[in-house]
Amino acid sequence: MTAQLNPRGDVAVLVPAAGAGVRLGPGRPKALRLLAGEPLLVHAVRRLAEARSVHTIVVAAPVAEVDAVRELLAPVAPVSVVPGGAERQESVAAALAAVPAGPEIILVHDAARALTPPSLVEAVAAAVRAGRPAVIPVLPVVDTIKEVDAGEVVLGTVDRSALRAVQTPQGFLRSVLTAAHAAAGDSLTDDAGLVEKQGVPVSCVSGSEYALKITRPFDLALAEHLLAGGG
Ligand code: CTP
Ligand code: MG
Repeated sequence: MTAQLNPRGDVAVLVPAAGAGVRLGPGRPKALRLLAGEPLLVHAVRRLAEARSVHTIVVAAPVAEVDAVRELLAPVAPVSVVPGGAERQESVAAALAAVPAGPEIILVHDAARALTPPSLVEAVAAAVRAGRPAVIPVLPVVDTIKEVDAGEVVLGTVDRSALRAVQTPQGFLRSVLTAAHAAAGDSLTDDAGLVEKQGVPVSCVSGSEYALKITRPFDLALAEHLLAGGG
């Protein structure tokens, strides 16, 4: 059944989904690869649509797949689909340009984080609503981290207590994300990085193990396992 988005919600979610998925190996663009019989993008959008603050969802699809993605998502939730760009940042900018007037909180969420729970979407949105201009979900780093030189010789051990692994959805005041993209230079893999360059403080909230980014075949296998366990 098609989910209804909340017409009184204050959140628009941009979903960059235009990547090829090179690290996942040969096949269709990653957002269209199957997880438990459904494309990653369907899993991701279904969970976003369950978050009750969400008013608008804009997906940036691979250019050759825009119509296919529209058809795929029509029964899942009412979403806008725009052509993505060659870099993630361009895909996010294309989706941002398609957000209608209204929502003042913008979340940016990787389609590849297909199992992200609606509760994390709400937690990020709530932190922005409470006055943080930019919010990222993070997890502590569990492995020991070494800095190495070009020859893979260890230069030193990094203090991991001050490090965080960053997930999506990343949340922003609309004005903050719009200004950051307008000023964007080099392409970055995360939107908070653009906002940092503007001197805007970026705050952390607790992330979720389920928000893992499906990048390599192992991640897909892990996601299958999590879903089989009711994740
Ligand atoms: N993405 C995008 N447009 C691009 C590149 C990436 O919308 N030009 C999206 C991907 O579809 C994904 C998210 O950004 O949902 C995170 O990127 P990543 O995990 O790196 O996905 P891919 O770029 O598809 O994977 P790879 O780097 O292995 O090719
Ligand atoms: Mg990529």
